[in-house]
Amino acid sequence: MKIGIIGSGHIGDTAARLFVQAGHEVALSNSRGPESLKARVQELGSLARAATVEDAAAFGELVLIAVPLKAYNTLPRAQMSGKIIIDAMNYYSQRDGQLDFSGHTSSEFIARYLRGSRLVKAFNTMWFKTLGEDAKPGAPLEERLVLFLAGDDAEAKQTVARLIEQIGFAPVDTGSLAVGGKHQQPGAAVYNRPMRPTQAREVLATL
Ligand SMILES: NC(=O)c1ccc[n+]([C@@H]2O[C@H](COP(=O)([O-])OP(=O)(O)OC[C@H]3O[C@@H](n4cnc5c(N)ncnc54)[C@H](OP(=O)(O)O)[C@@H]3O)[C@@H](O)[C@H]2O)c1
Repeated sequence: MKIGIIGSGHIGDTAARLFVQAGHEVALSNSRGPESLKARVQELGSLARAATVEDAAAFGELVLIAVPLKAYNTLPRAQMSGKIIIDAMNYYSQRDGQLDFSGHTSSEFIARYLRGSRLVKAFNTMWFKTLGEDAKPGAPLEERLVLFLAGDDAEAKQTVARLIEQIGFAPVDTGSLAVGGKHQQPGAAVYNRPMRPTQAREVLATL
């Protein structure tokens, strides 16, 4: 699969490596432009390329957003329309300033901004070091750590769940962007708490 990555910091860069290891093509982008990513894509090998944000979005059948949430209104909506989007962003007011979600989850807010895209909230609950170090592609699902996902588009969620499995984690669906999205936000019971699928399902059942 072709995957565009917007934001190539802790999460975007770690995910890029895992996607390449699983055989996917990636286009990495950041705020400073492709030149600044030249060395990194060389390290990642022939499946990786550096791109502008617009070109990374256009390249991907699936696009991972891994920028600070306050940058949401710089995302290239036109190039993302109709695509499966993974929203890995979290809202921290200290970093992102005051944003008014009008009672919605941050991912519902982003989905509204990126109307016409098929947004799945995932890769946001796990610390980048855990993501980088604890993938177990060869292990049975029950022995892997969970990457949670939420969304309103069943087919898009299936694609993201498959990707999560390919890179060595266990996908666990938390529900819609409204309900599951809330379960995945900072401070929630499964947020930044490494767990295996059995425990994850137990915790979710109590919510
Ligand atoms: N760190 C974690 O463990 C973790 C875990 C889960 C989720 N998250 C979430 O993932 C997001 C990224 O976190 P991070 O820790 O990876 O941040 P980070 O290391 O600071 O990286 C942010 C990346 O976003 C790029 N960027 C910033 N503004 C941009 C814009 N307007 N257009 C394009 N690229 C832009 C930066 O570009 P430059 O490199 O050019 O500055 C950088 O590559 C945040 O929303 C965070 O809450 C983080």
